[in-house]
Parts: sequence; C-alpha cells; structure tokens
Amino acid sequence: MTNTGDLALATRGLRKSYGSHVALAGLDLSVPRGTVYGFLGPNGAGKTTTMRLLTGLIHPDAGSIELLGLPFGRGDRHRLYDVGALIESPSFYPFLSARQNLRELATNGAPVGAGRIEELLELTGLRDRAKDAVSTYSLGMKQRLGIAAALLSDPTLLLLDEPANGLDPAGIVAMRETLRHLAAIGKTVFVSSHLLAEVQQMADVVGIIAAGRLVREGLMQELLNAEGIVRVRVGLDEVAGAAAALAALTASGGVTSSTAEPGWISVRVRPDQSGEVNRVLAGAGIWATALETGNDLEMLFLELTGGAQAAGGEGTFFGMAGSRADPGAPGTTGTTGTGAAA
Ligand SMILES: Nc1ncnc2c1ncn2[C@@H]1O[C@H](COP(=O)(O)OP(=O)(O)O)[C@@H](O)[C@H]1O
Ligand SMILES: [Mg+2]
Repeated sequence: MTNTGDLALATRGLRKSYGSHVALAGLDLSVPRGTVYGFLGPNGAGKTTTMRLLTGLIHPDAGSIELLGLPFGRGDRHRLYDVGALIESPSFYPFLSARQNLRELATNGAPVGAGRIEELLELTGLRDRAKDAVSTYSLGMKQRLGIAAALLSDPTLLLLDEPANGLDPAGIVAMRETLRHLAAIGKTVFVSSHLLAEVQQMADVVGIIAAGRLVREGLMQELLNAEGIVRVRVGLDEVAGAAAALAALTASGGVTSSTAEPGWISVRVRPDQSGEVNRVLAGAGIWATALETGNDLEMLFLELTGGAQAAGGEGTFFGMAGSRADPGAPGTTGTTGTGAAA
C-alpha cells in the first residue's frame, strides 16, 4: 500500500457483490487532499455502490477504506461528521421549507454555527425560495438543497454522487464553481459522474471506473496531454494498405484496425497530427472517408461506454473542442454517431 497520509480518501481492494453480481471487484482509489476528484464511469460501473460503502450505508465484502487518514469500518459512522455526502436523491420533509429542513438537519447532526444555513441557501441559490415547501421545488432545486445539506457541517471531505443530475446548465456551472471554490479553500471533493465532459471541466484528478474496477487514475492535465488518437475510415479493401502506410507515423503497435467497426483505423499520434495522417494516406493513394481525433481519455471513455453517450447526444467527445474534422477528401461521408460532423 502506498503512503496514504496525504490522501483524503483511499480504498484498497474494495469488493462488493449483490447476490452473485459483482458490483466492485477490488477497487483501489487514491484521492489527494484539497482536490476535486472526478469519479467517472458509465452507468452501472459501481459509483453509487462505492459512495454507499464510503458512508457506511452498506458494508464491503472485502478490502479497506481510509477516510481523512483513519481506517473506516463497521461502527465508524459517527466519524462521518467531517464528511458531507449527497447520495442518490436526498430525502427531505416535503411540507417543510428548505430553511426548515436545514434547521432540522442541524439539530440532529453536528453543531452548525449561526448564519451557516443562510450562507448555504445563498450559495446554492435557494434563498429566494427558502420559505416555500420543498414539495413545490423542481428536481434541480431539491438537488441543490441536497448539496446544501451535505455542506451543512462544513465538512473536510465531500462525497457527491452525480450531483449534476437534474440541474439545468446554469445550475451545473454554479455547482462546478462551488466545488472548485471548496477545493481552493482546502476541502476535498469526491464527485461522481457518467459524463466525461462534465468531469473534464472541474476535476483536478480523475479516476475512471468500469465494471467495478479502476481502469485509470491520474492528474486530469496529464491524462489529457497524453498521446492521443486519430481515427480514420477507409474503404474495406484499403485497410491493410492504409495500416501499412500509417505505421511510419507511430511506434510499433500504434496502428490498429477495428474489428467492431470495419474500415476504421486508430493511429496513436497527437491529435494535432491529424493532417499528417491524412497526408500519408493520400500519399499512398488512399482517400479517408472520415477522420476524427480525441485524447486518450476520450478514446478510453468512448470505448468503455461503447459510444453510447455520443449516440445519445448527452455529452460529446470529439465534438467538444471542435476536433472532429472533415478531411475534405473526395467521397467524404461524415462520421459515425453524434451527428456533430459537418
Ligand atoms: N441493491 C442492488 N441489488 C442488486 N444489484 C445492484 C444493487 N445496486 C446496484 N446493483 C448493481 O451493481 C452494479 C453497480 O451499480 P451502481 O453502483 O449503482 O453503479 P453506478 O452508480 O456507477 O451507475 C450495477 O450492475 C447495478 O445493477
Ligand atoms: Mg449511480
């Protein structure tokens, strides 16, 4: 085990099954203090299960959890005063207002300083509606009240399970700013999402989970700057020739042709070299019918989600920074999926 002293949260070998279904198959997370950590994974990957384990709502079959430098096990829930959490839809008394609900929570939980409730109503943009019954709130307002509740005791570590769900775009921007602010004042924010674009915009560190396992963890900037991938589509009878020509651009093993999507070839080069890919193909007398670029993180997540996100139009990968390119070759037919292609 690595030194976990500078980590706000660490799990080692965390396992959890529901009956015969393995939800977590040995999860190792390392969440540095004072960061926004994006816990990213497709639906069903095990994010909520992890959150529930971290707050003692359920117990692991094996493995360990460390919260703020101390082991967290069965019977340690009282220690969660320093941990704020929003998991699944929070439940509030529908007939009470936001302010009354927060007061209610404050009397039952850790002591809360005077003015804290007003501060949180302001922070989460609920002040104008703070007197209205929660039953009249939109989903987004309830979600914001949930965030206020998680922040009530001014916790050192905040665990938020898909907090953007139900928020409108302005609400998402406001939440992102709030989370960045919390990290700037030294808090640790562990926040899950199934959308890469969302995590990419707010996290310092990202951990990607798929089928109950961590598949990547690291500094967001490093993962984004890592070598990227250019994908190009050629005629089915040209795949072998194209792959041979493109091999000159990258290290051995850097060119792969897709079996799932015949005609598509991936080349490991920086995304800004996509023009070069096109030039090499043209030099070999092959015209690309589609070309797209992405960084490693995008490609990885696209693979994990089977492109479902892109197809759903919920988040974009290649379209994000306008990096989906039309190679301008004769016979260009646009690309798969999003409809974002020109
Ligand atoms: N209470 C439960 N009983 C049985 N299976 C569950 C239960 N909760 C979650 N699962 C399954 O465990 C896996 C992980 O679920 P979950 O942690 O909710 O994923 P995520 O939050 O990443 O979408 C999924 O396959 C899900 O269907
Ligand atoms: Mg979930």
